[in-house]
Amino acid sequence: SATDNGSGGGRSGALTPPPVAEEVQRIDVNPPKGTRDFPPEDMRLRNWLFNHFREVSRLFGFEEVDYPVLESEALFIRKAGEEIRDQLYCFEDRGNRRVALRPELTPSLARLVIQKGKSLSLPLKWFAVGQCWRYERMTRGRRREHYQWNMDILGVPEVTAEAELISSIVTFFKRIGITESDVGFKVSSRKVLQEVLSFYSVPENLFGKVCVIIDKIEKIPIDVIKKDLEATGLSNEAIEQLLQVLSIKSLTKLEEIIGGGGEGIADLKKLFSLAEKFGYSQWIQFDASVVRGLAYYTGIVFEGFDRGGKLRAICGGGRYDRLLSTFGGEDIPACGFGFGDAVIVELLKEKGLLPELSLEVDNIVCALDDDLKGVAATVASKLREKGQSVELVLETKPLKWVFKRAARTNAQRLILVGKTEWEKGMVSVKNLSSSEQYEIKLDELE
Ligand code: HAM
Repeated sequence: SATDNGSGGGRSGALTPPPVAEEVQRIDVNPPKGTRDFPPEDMRLRNWLFNHFREVSRLFGFEEVDYPVLESEALFIRKAGEEIRDQLYCFEDRGNRRVALRPELTPSLARLVIQKGKSLSLPLKWFAVGQCWRYERMTRGRRREHYQWNMDILGVPEVTAEAELISSIVTFFKRIGITESDVGFKVSSRKVLQEVLSFYSVPENLFGKVCVIIDKIEKIPIDVIKKDLEATGLSNEAIEQLLQVLSIKSLTKLEEIIGGGGEGIADLKKLFSLAEKFGYSQWIQFDASVVRGLAYYTGIVFEGFDRGGKLRAICGGGRYDRLLSTFGGEDIPACGFGFGDAVIVELLKEKGLLPELSLEVDNIVCALDDDLKGVAATVASKLREKGQSVELVLETKPLKWVFKRAARTNAQRLILVGKTEWEKGMVSVKNLSSSEQYEIKLDELE
């Protein structure tokens, strides 16, 4: 058998491989294209980032949730021609069910909210940090698997909710050293487009589809956009008016063109006034070209961008008051955002703001004699009970190795269990930053 390979689990460290009947092909050691391994140094960075996500969410009074990475495919099928639909990792499982790896968290949130129904007390403030899968064309900061921090508020129809969400992202940026000169938020409202469309009597059910087309404006030629809009039944006049509105970068100008009576402009004004009170006015600007590529948004939409203009959207979100009814549930006013783990790391690299994170243990404990390995284990257990981290040297190693190891793990103290000291019930301690050295009784070790 594979375990009984006759090596006897030798002490050299390298096990003798089992005898092979057929020739073994070396596997491809890279993870699938677009996915990542997280070796320790990358995992430290990921944890650092996620800890900030979680800490900011806690500061805002949000509760953490999660959903399965694997969901029913139907949850992600919307008919608006969204890019995300074509990027779905979907397949049939062994029970012939159509399933998909989630490309985003919002549909799962909607599903759970519908499932919980009236038992939920509103407003609901939920956050999640979860892995999402999209079969993307790979570019800088875009991959086929990414983690997304989401914060969502359900049950609040007022713009205070959007203002609060943007405030939490600003709080996050500040904590990691990103300022308003590095990033900003472009904000608009889909209600503005809705007003233009209803002026031209475009049916409401086309709204999501039109938004999805418009969202591609910077990615595909304008003629193609116009053709796609025409194909949905929009008149040339309506298309020209839409395109004109989309180029507007000031609220005053927008008001001049579409009139100031609508909800879209009123919402945006409220948001900008709240931004002042929260203290993040310098971070946000009106930009009608922000539409977002997901069909379900109904009101304010926003995107975080790097002012250097090198990277794709850092985060994005908005109001989606009518998503629940598309799943047969009862609508609840809702808004939220998704913040990926990839673009922000690129930005931190660019700004020289990546934190230096290294493995840090409090103690390294080593027996100087084979017979004292048990004592070393006792020392380690005692310290761990006190909450101190301990790397216990498990093999018999020369002192030189132990010192090297201590340096690599940034150990604060080296604790050696040697024969002469232990005969007196003592161990020797070396403080590795001050080089102070002393002997101490096991019971007195702190
Ligand atoms: P989204 O704009 O599709 O929105 O994604 C949100 C964020 O996830 C992006 O701004 C980006 O940071 C990150 N992201 C998305 N795709 C990738 C990728 N392929 N590689 C790396 N990062 C990526 C949503 O997903 C909405 N569900 C957000 C939301 C929550 N809206 C309301 N609540």
